[in-house]
Formats: sequence, structure tokens, C-alpha cells
Amino acid sequence: MNEAREVTQNAYAPYSNFYVGAVAKLINGEIVAGTNQENASYPVGICAERVLLGNAATLYPGIAIDTIAVSYDGHETKSDHPISPCGMCRQSLLEYESRVNNSIRLILAGQQGKVYILKSARFLLPFAFSKEEMG
Ligand code: THU
Repeated sequence: MNEAREVTQNAYAPYSNFYVGAVAKLINGEIVAGTNQENASYPVGICAERVLLGNAATLYPGIAIDTIAVSYDGHETKSDHPISPCGMCRQSLLEYESRVNNSIRLILAGQQGKVYILKSARFLLPFAFSKEEMG
């Protein structure tokens, strides 16, 4: 979580001023990070969690993620409640779990305040769509 808080500094979020950092510990002990990267064409921006998953899959293909810590810095606003990953990231986290067959522990917080710990992305997205639905 300390690293996630720190890496928010590497986010590119001039439009929302909401700087998000995500740091994963893989089961091989390696650490991988991601930050949100926005764009003047707003929908082009990507969340920290999906940057992280792309980085992990590219650098360490097939290696399961043990834990992901996510934090944010609102710069102009307080950052004192746990971050709540967006729906697209929930979907991506869930599929990462199934493709390497391993639950990801999630630690969600702000720069201070309450910390939420979940044992799996499954708890963020009940009744999820998955490849099993496609037969
Ligand atoms: N964002 C993330 O990177 N992760 C989250 O969990 C929530 C939202 C980003 C997307 C956008 O760049 C900014 O935060 C405001 O929505």
C-alpha cells in the first residue's frame, strides 16, 4: 500500500486530478505497478488497475498475482476513503484471476483512513459475465 500511495505520483491525470496508483506482488515475488493515464480525448484514458494488469501480463506472462494494492491522491480534494475500482477494472481483474487460476487479494485505500481488504476480485463483481457464459 505504501508503494501504491507513492506511485500515484506517476499518474497522468490532468483532466480529473484524480491520481491513482496500483502495485501488485506476483507469486514469484516480483513487483509490478500501474497508474492511470488520461488523454485530452477523455475515453482514451486508462485506469491504473488495467495498466498494471497489462504490465504484469507482458512482463511476467502466466505468473499469478498474489496481491494488488490500490490508492489515489485527489491533489485538490481529500484522499481519505478506500478507492472503489470501476466496473471495467472489476471485469478485467476477474478475468486475470481466471486466466491464471488464482485469486487476487485486493487492498484498497486512500492516502489515509480506512483500508478494505478483499480475498478476491469476485467480491467486487457478483453475477459477472465471463467466458463460461459464451458456452
Ligand atoms: N481511475 C483509476 O485509475 N482507478 C480507479 O479505481 C478509479 C478511477 C481513474 C480513471 C480516471 O483517470 C480517473 O481515475 C478519474 O475517474
